[in-house]
Amino acid sequence: MANSKLLREAVVILGAGTQGRRLAYMWSSTGKPVHLVDQQESQLSQGLDHVHQLRTSSSSISTNWGKITTSKPSSLKEELEKAWLAIECVPENFALKQSVISQLDNLAPDQTILASNSSSYVIGEIIENLSLNNPRRVLSAHCYWPPETPAIEIMGYEQTDPSIIDLLVKKSEEHGFTPYRVRKPSVGYIYNRIWAAIKRETLLTLSEGVASPNEIDAIFRDVLKTPKGPCELMDVVGLDVVLDIEKHYAETRKNLPSEPQKYLQDMIDAGNLGVKNSRGFYKYPRE
Ligand SMILES: NC(=O)c1ccc[n+]([C@@H]2O[C@H](COP(=O)([O-])OP(=O)(O)OC[C@H]3O[C@@H](n4cnc5c(N)ncnc54)[C@H](O)[C@@H]3O)[C@@H](O)[C@H]2O)c1
Repeated sequence: MANSKLLREAVVILGAGTQGRRLAYMWSSTGKPVHLVDQQESQLSQGLDHVHQLRTSSSSISTNWGKITTSKPSSLKEELEKAWLAIECVPENFALKQSVISQLDNLAPDQTILASNSSSYVIGEIIENLSLNNPRRVLSAHCYWPPETPAIEIMGYEQTDPSIIDLLVKKSEEHGFTPYRVRKPSVGYIYNRIWAAIKRETLLTLSEGVASPNEIDAIFRDVLKTPKGPCELMDVVGLDVVLDIEKHYAETRKNLPSEPQKYLQDMIDAGNLGVKNSRGFYKYPRE
């Protein structure tokens, strides 16, 4: 199965937002074509501008760029005929993820690999209750912030053909990513679940009155030599987003403590969302 995919050269990316445009940059870095799809014309043009900025920056990762074409979803079938890989990068909404994966499965040739970049929903969850034509060609390919943070976690579910995981690991490495194979289905992949544990324990420590945000961040930076502590990082992500993520972990895993969620909810109810509204664990200047 894996070899026949190489007859097609293009990568199709659905969603030209924060992630989609970065993935377009990465997957076009060996001279191969990328097709970027979005419902919003403005996202497509801003996405192309962003790719241009990355390509012309001093830290550009290639000199052999593939062509990036764009379209609205209406011409998806035609573009998928040329693709060995299609990646969905649409917003983090479960029903939307399901509908986009179904659509890709209906329209793409049987050999085209279908990948989800979702941070919270693993591929097994997304396709549960869907009746796919080829459930063996779907997997999760979760990126961080390429090209600056080129980690990509590649993970199948029980039915994924192992040869497509091998192929995606190899191809992602050739395109400047640092691939990590997630060896079993895992909500939060590898890194995010460890980060979730740090956030959860930080919130529990705060809720017990053991230390202040300042003290937690200071000792974290001091011991681990990281530029930011967990409270500072949660402020950057947004406390509402942190709460949504924690709720999703709590749905999929029993016995997680409820205090971290309550602590976050109280902060949100008091109007503290983090950097985005200038008030979180810390105060920030208004933009
Ligand atoms: N932002 C991050 O740092 C980050 C990191 C890792 C993973 N992710 C994941 O990547 C995915 C996308 O996140 P994002 O931050 O790029 O979102 P975003 O909101 O910036 O971009 C999503 C884009 O998808 C488009 N879109 C919506 N419905 C569509 C459809 N049916 N067909 C085609 N395009 C459609 C929107 O117009 C928008 O341009 C999410 O699943 C998220 O969990 C995000």
